[in-house]
Amino acid sequence: MKTHSIETIVHPGPADASRDVANRLIAEVHARPNAVLGLATGGTPVEAYRQVVEAHRRGEVDFGEVRTFNLDEYVGLAEEHPQSFRYFMQEQLFDHLNIKRERTQVPDGLAADIDEHCASYETKIRDADGIDLQLLGIGHNGHIAFNEPGSSLESRTRSVTLTAETIEKNARFFDSPHDVPRFAITMGIGTILEARRIVLLALGEAKADAVEKALYGPVTESHPASLLQMHPDVTFVLDAACARGIDQLAGRS
Ligand code: PGA
Repeated sequence: MKTHSIETIVHPGPADASRDVANRLIAEVHARPNAVLGLATGGTPVEAYRQVVEAHRRGEVDFGEVRTFNLDEYVGLAEEHPQSFRYFMQEQLFDHLNIKRERTQVPDGLAADIDEHCASYETKIRDADGIDLQLLGIGHNGHIAFNEPGSSLESRTRSVTLTAETIEKNARFFDSPHDVPRFAITMGIGTILEARRIVLLALGEAKADAVEKALYGPVTESHPASLLQMHPDVTFVLDAACARGIDQLAGRS
């Protein structure tokens, strides 16, 4: 198994790290106006998306030819549900850019035939000639998208059962933990690793352990983010709180 060292950029605070990620998304679109972007949801990318919207408002970036694929969606939530990832993407990003709805893909949590929908999501990514730049977050347990520990390296877009830990972490967005869906559709690890370039944004001390294991731990399906070491072009963009301990480790290796 060939592994690569992951490029790590550490910024003093979350605002600088978010600006860096926004700049990477914008630079990708400048270089390739018809870029295919892989996008993430969650608390982490909100400020980066805000920066992208600001740049678009200033006339600095045109999304007219861009296409996007989101990583995941809850099963059972309609897109009008405020906690659905489609709703999040519209509210945080798409509604503020010149991107047509049909150029943005988010898995459909209400698809009648989930397996068929997942297979067709993979086909759509392939038909778009793959993802140029995939943005990721990371879970406390090392998950990427909803690929929880134990997800296979070869996994593709599919429906998954969320772990109790993920349900608990995401309960903050819902009225009660009972309202958090138990299932989701997620791109697989195999799907994510086919993106040409990957940028993972992680902020805050609570993610430090997960990030450290991803960068320096064994490459193992029990910590899905560590599988990113198998990809030749991955950059972790971190704030200083999240990067605690990493300098010493880097110096030691
Ligand atoms: P967060 O989620 O950005 O809300 O912390 C990231 C993730 O779980 O992948």
